[in-house]
Amino acid sequence: MYLCGMSRKTITAALPYANGPVHIGHLAGVYVPADIYARTLRMMGEELLFICGSDEHGVPITLRARKEGITPQDVVDRYHKIIGDSFKDLGISFDTYSRTTSAAHKQTAQEFFSNLLEKGAFDVQVSEQYFDPETQQFLADRYIVGACPKCSAEGAYGDQCEKCGSTLSPDELVNPKSALSGAEPIKKETRNWYLPLDRLQSEFLNEYIGSRQNWKSNVLGQCKSWLNDGLKPRAMTRDLEWGIPVPVEGADGKVLYVWFEAPIGYISATRELRPDDWESWWTGDSEVIHFIGKDNIVFHCIIFPAMLHLRGDNYCVPSQVPANEFLNLEGQKISTSRNWAVWLHEYLQELPNRQDELRYVLTAIAPETKDSEFTWKDYQTRVNSELVGILGNFANRVLVLLQKYNNGVIPEVSDQAQAWMDASNYTWSMEELWSKRIAPIAQSIQEYRFRDAQFAMMELARYGNKFLADLEPWKKVKEDPDAASAVLARAVQILYNTALAMEPFMPFASQRLLDQLNAQPSA
Ligand code: MF3
Ligand code: ZN
Repeated sequence: MYLCGMSRKTITAALPYANGPVHIGHLAGVYVPADIYARTLRMMGEELLFICGSDEHGVPITLRARKEGITPQDVVDRYHKIIGDSFKDLGISFDTYSRTTSAAHKQTAQEFFSNLLEKGAFDVQVSEQYFDPETQQFLADRYIVGACPKCSAEGAYGDQCEKCGSTLSPDELVNPKSALSGAEPIKKETRNWYLPLDRLQSEFLNEYIGSRQNWKSNVLGQCKSWLNDGLKPRAMTRDLEWGIPVPVEGADGKVLYVWFEAPIGYISATRELRPDDWESWWTGDSEVIHFIGKDNIVFHCIIFPAMLHLRGDNYCVPSQVPANEFLNLEGQKISTSRNWAVWLHEYLQELPNRQDELRYVLTAIAPETKDSEFTWKDYQTRVNSELVGILGNFANRVLVLLQKYNNGVIPEVSDQAQAWMDASNYTWSMEELWSKRIAPIAQSIQEYRFRDAQFAMMELARYGNKFLADLEPWKKVKEDPDAASAVLARAVQILYNTALAMEPFMPFASQRLLDQLNAQPSA
């Protein structure tokens, strides 16, 4: 097992399916925390790449295309654009936003498959799969519809009933029909390439997962339950049309399993971005960290690591997979198919220039250890009482005082006044401010506790407000102008540090404040 050097980081965020726009659940679970992490590490001078892109294969995309009477490529072109633009508008600082229909990805995924094939990593198995005798093609589970055996609802899919939420297999459906032609599906034999996860479990995965002491407990819990149940071989190729062709002669009509190739998309995106040294970001020189939601855990913690392990050649397995739980909306599960969501591109249209507000609220309620809930009422309260009431208030007071008493210029502070300031019981030295207020923010972020980190950032502004209230520069300005200058200068320093600390969470407001202070974000 190769966990790789800890010198620089390859940070990935789950590739969103290009069959719909992204919503606040995706943001709170994956993209906002990943961005906070990447921005923080960049500020600390670490070398990193922050990688994402659209996941453009898979059956839901072909289903959507059929429904709309367009091609799968049309579907993914549309959503790739919407998703990419909206991430950018929200300030998600990817170094690249690629896509899995790119030529570079096709090449990289096929090479990866061929590499494992040459190493003898796959088992070939013959199995019976559902087949549509009219359209003459194999049917993915999603393409078989019938009545749900549990709740009798019509229109249940071969993998799931959306009415009652039961997980199904196509064999359980009552009166199964092909969603393509309406014909009754028959079973037909087919050969596919399987990843022997049962063997890989004893050879590698038990030890890999067993030794991940610093992973989040929700992530480890799910992994261990998969391992306890015992892994089974899983097909890495499928009889489908939409996808990356299996690079083997005679494998016509077969494509790579979407969960085989999509994670390789992280590697392809790196390759496009850094043609000269891409591989070093996935081998011994780098540490790989995957930000994902909880429904992706098995793929990133078990299947992809198994693939990387088989690949060998110094490829590293993920060192951290900080997966989050789910965000609910106004008491209900977010659902793309039932259109119950706050869509990012709509939010950005309806509430322009309110990116930081959304980022702030989603971080404050992020489902880090258990499912959590977004409500508009809570959004409003947090914006008004926390962002405006605490942060905005502090910034405003400092800037107004500075303007009023010193024409917007940071006052000179006499040695005497500085000594008084440093000795004052009311305030901390800059060292204390650092150790008590700023260092804990970076510490929490490195431990993937973004809610705590953001709270600690707000504590700086709370401290600033208390500092002003206790030392009352507006009174001192008459009695002791020297002391007032010292207070004001210190207040500006606190505000400057607050603005820097805000950057990973609220990059737009941070930049505005730094501009007002005429400061650069690199202290
Ligand atoms: N498209 C998947 C989802 O939205 C995530 C794919 S992550 C990748 O759940 F690693 F496979 F790319
Ligand atoms: Zn049902």
